[in-house]
Amino acid sequence: MRHFLTLKDYTKEEILEIIELGLRIKSEVKAKRFTPYLEKKTLAMIFEKSSTRTRVSFETGIYQLGGMGLFLSSRDIQLGRGEPMKDTARVISRMCDMVMIRTYSQSKLEEFAHFSQVPVINGLTDEYHPVQLMADYMTMIEHGKDKNPVVAYVGDGNNMAHSWLMLASKLGFELRIATPKGYECDSGIVADAMAFAKESGAKLYFTNDPKEAVANADVVTTDTWVSMGDEEEKEKRLKDFAGYTIDDAMMKLADPTAIFLHCLPAYRGLEVTEEVLEGPQSVVFDEAENRLHAQKGIMVWLNHQIKEK
Ligand code: CP
Ligand code: NVA
Repeated sequence: MRHFLTLKDYTKEEILEIIELGLRIKSEVKAKRFTPYLEKKTLAMIFEKSSTRTRVSFETGIYQLGGMGLFLSSRDIQLGRGEPMKDTARVISRMCDMVMIRTYSQSKLEEFAHFSQVPVINGLTDEYHPVQLMADYMTMIEHGKDKNPVVAYVGDGNNMAHSWLMLASKLGFELRIATPKGYECDSGIVADAMAFAKESGAKLYFTNDPKEAVANADVVTTDTWVSMGDEEEKEKRLKDFAGYTIDDAMMKLADPTAIFLHCLPAYRGLEVTEEVLEGPQSVVFDEAENRLHAQKGIMVWLNHQIKEK
């Protein structure tokens, strides 16, 4: 049995295999063929943080695969009143076939996975957002940006930046990360990525200059400056990230055919301008839709790993 907690645990071949599977199921659905790959399976979806895309894509995805999703907000379940993660894990995993969790620390997610008898999927933690990156890479493939791409991530050294580091270092492409001073990526995660990059040939660059990162890039991406859990630092962050907005001038530095990605939700006028987000290079709504397709690939693949045992 496998969990899907971070791309750190996955090989290049596995990542590509899952995305291919997601693309195959996507083409089936577009042809109105709904194969019940996960008939009668239930997916528990535990949310300790807000969500639009993650909730809707997992719930719709499991339904289209012949199963059912249970939306469990920590405001409603006993976890929110202090029932331990390890008890919640043992109870839910005796009743459901798969669990998706959105929570704070990666260690909480890992604790759940340790006590779970069914596959656990990371629906975002403070450290990583791996399901998003599967959708992002699927979008890059569809827009012809998967052949030795140069990706520029401009913004906070957060869960999205960390997940880009894992994807690039596993698949072997060039990633440039520009963060303001004091908002760099976690040094342990950077060290892990550097070790993977040695094997894959990935090139990883870190800078405090967004323009340097974006120069001739094939993909430009960013994320909110104030992630869930950072709300108290909002005022300081908005000052510290001045100069990091992706605007038309910044996009002009990239390759003329570059695409713009954003996991959403986007804050117009902060990390990205309205013009870029709504402009011709932006593929953010293809990217959002691909959450549905990529995650179906993940769920079907994880289920297949159980059967193979
Ligand atoms: N990108 C993403 O995970 O969005 P939600 O927070 O709406 O799920
Ligand atoms: N970095 C953001 C991503 C939201 C999908 C957050 O963690 O809030």
